Amino acid sequence: MSIALASAADFRDLDHDLPLLLDAAATRGIQAEIAIWDDPAVDWSSYDAVIVRSCWDYTNRRDEFLAWAASVPTLHNSHDVIRWNTDKVYLQQLQEAGVPIIETRWDISEGDDIGQHDEWVVKPTVSAGSRDTARWTSRDDVYAHSAALVAAGRTSMTQPYIASVDDEGETAMLFFGGTFSHAIRKGAILAKGEGVRQDRDGRGENPLTRNPTDAQHAVARQALAATDQILGRDAGLLYARVDLVTAADGSPLVIELELTEPSLFLPWSDGGAERLMDAIVARA
Ligand SMILES: Nc1ncnc2c1ncn2[C@@H]1O[C@H](COP(=O)(O)OP(=O)(O)O)[C@@H](O)[C@H]1O
Ligand SMILES: [Mg+2]
Repeated sequence: MSIALASAADFRDLDHDLPLLLDAAATRGIQAEIAIWDDPAVDWSSYDAVIVRSCWDYTNRRDEFLAWAASVPTLHNSHDVIRWNTDKVYLQQLQEAGVPIIETRWDISEGDDIGQHDEWVVKPTVSAGSRDTARWTSRDDVYAHSAALVAAGRTSMTQPYIASVDDEGETAMLFFGGTFSHAIRKGAILAKGEGVRQDRDGRGENPLTRNPTDAQHAVARQALAATDQILGRDAGLLYARVDLVTAADGSPLVIELELTEPSLFLPWSDGGAERLMDAIVARA
């Protein structure tokens, strides 16, 4: 059996998960290698499974990335999942299915109702690593940022800034083969008054492992079940990360469902790489 872990030239050395996955494959006698998704020399059809990993440079080239995904016969997660998941408009569908998400307004323009909040976040629906994302206290800034994204042909999202993120962070829950593996805490990344930055490359602190509450487990499962229903799938996804924040009333809200190229935080898990490799073998 042979597998490719798809990365990007600029990011393969920054992906902490890859070495653990290579080790877990070697332990099982599986041939595994890192391959760069836009390298024309790679014969993707030669692998029993191609796993999307650190392809973190796709956001400005989404069409090219989706065309590549469609061309790889044994891709995980599959092309239809990736197409759906790389544009955060999917959150609308999750909300319609009853999944609690952060209150979101789409493509707002000057004068639109944005609710009564102390702070807002404006971001594009296609993004990763907080690019083109900012936290604002002034309504004028919110309108201007949203208008700039729309003028650039993008879809904008406007949300209240969820205050608990500053102390509690986000809870990222990892599922492999549909089964919960581990969870971590991610610290806040948007600083007050900072505006739009393109160079946010870390959270300035290491993630910590976290034991999700029953309520968090319930919302994460609900989000994954809704996804299977929306996409007409009957099997759990090979990998999924459900990112949750906590509302003012203490209930969990989905901030993002990462089914494309999530950091899996394997170095901060006990046996996560082993569980993912077993799930890969079970599917390939
Ligand atoms: N409504 C919000 N309230 C608080 N923090 C937010 C909010 N939206 C985004 N953030 C912060 O910005 C980061 C990036 O936003 P996210 O929606 O996860 O997009 P991506 O990770 O794809 O860039 C989050 O990890 C979080 O720290
Ligand atoms: Mg995120």
